[in-house]
Order: sequence, then structure tokens, then C-alpha cells
Amino acid sequence: MKRTLICMLLSGATLLRAEGDAALAQVERGRQVFLHSKKGIACATCHSLEGQGIAVGPDITKLAAVVGPRGLATTILMTATAYVQDFKLPNGRTFPGIEKQKTADTWEIFDLSRIPAVLLKLKPADTVVVRSSSEWCHPPTVAKYAPEELADIIGYLKFVATGKAKEVSSDELF
Ligand code: HEC
Repeated sequence: MKRTLICMLLSGATLLRAEGDAALAQVERGRQVFLHSKKGIACATCHSLEGQGIAVGPDITKLAAVVGPRGLATTILMTATAYVQDFKLPNGRTFPGIEKQKTADTWEIFDLSRIPAVLLKLKPADTVVVRSSSEWCHPPTVAKYAPEELADIIGYLKFVATGKAKEVSSDELF
């Protein structure tokens, strides 16, 4: 009896460890997609996590800390934008951009028409914000990630945002 109990406890512990291992393996897969994906444009080209990547887009950890897998999948595949605006320069060139910093004399704007984005320093008096919605499209919307890859990315985002590895299934996303 006692022996059975010990066996049950041990196998329970092994099961937990196996689940933990699977979650950590997913975090690593997600990290690799985030940093180096050959599909579309790697997230790290525009987002910084764990000290890697370029912070062109917003800090994803704030959202990933509070939003579940489905909400994150929707946001990653979003077609509407909240921060990207179109800017028009005196020479007539218009480009989708995202603000890095604005002071009275200079607007620091990432030009999203370039990959990787180029930081421009503009004079506010010369620059016109055309409109808040843009033709710009978040690269993951056209990257055709498999649901499993998206689940790996989200597992990784949740891990960085919360410090806990918990496996995300692709069934939770849609
Ligand atoms: C070419 C640059 C670029 C790439 C590549 C990119 N993003 Fe983004 N991302 C942005 C920009 C810019 C925004 C802000 C869009 C807006 O709402 O105006 C954004 C927004 C987001 C948001 C919403 C953040 C918030 O607080 O609203 C998430 C989540 C996100 N990206 C995740 C990802 C993931 C995951 C990948 C890779 C699979 C990725 N992004 C690839 C530029 C990029």
C-alpha cells in the first residue's frame, strides 16, 4: 500500500517534470522563431526581448503579461494599427512610421518602410502627420506561421513576460 503510494507520488513528479520540460522546450523554439525566423521578418527586427532585438515596435511584455494566448495571437496577426502613423516630408515622400521620441525641436521617428527600420530625426515644423491609420501591415500577418509556430512564439512571450514556462497549445489560439 505504502509502496503503491510512493510509486504514485514518484510518477506524478515525473509527469510534472515532463510537462515542465515540454514547456521549456517550447520557450526555446519560440525564442528561435522570434530571433531568427526565416518566414516573414523575424520579430526581433522590430521588438526587443531579453536584451536582444531592436525596440522599434512597442514593448510586448506589457501586453503578454496580462493577455491570454488567444488575445496575443489576434494582436500578432492584427491588421489595424494603434501606433503606426503616416508621415509626410517636405519633399513629398510619405512613409509609415512609429514615434520613438518627440521633443520640441526634434521628432525621432522609425521609418517602417525600411527593413530594418531606420531612425529619422525630423523637424516638427517640416513634417506632416498624414493620418493615424496606415497602409502599413504588421509583418506576421503575411508570414504564414503554422499554428504550432505561433503557439511557440506565444509560449516564449508569456515566459519572458511572466517568468513562468507553461506550454501553449495551438488549440488555444483560434
Ligand atoms: C517590421 C517591424 C515588425 C516586425 C517584424 C514585427 N513587429 Fe510586432 N509590431 C511592430 C509595430 C510597429 C507595432 C505597433 C503597431 C501599431 O499598433 O501601430 C507592433 C505591435 C506588436 C504587438 C502589439 C503590442 C501592443 O502593445 O499593442 C505585438 C504583440 C507584436 N507586435 C508582436 C510581434 C511578434 C510576435 C512578431 C514576430 C512574429 C512581430 N511583432 C514582428 C513592428 C513589428
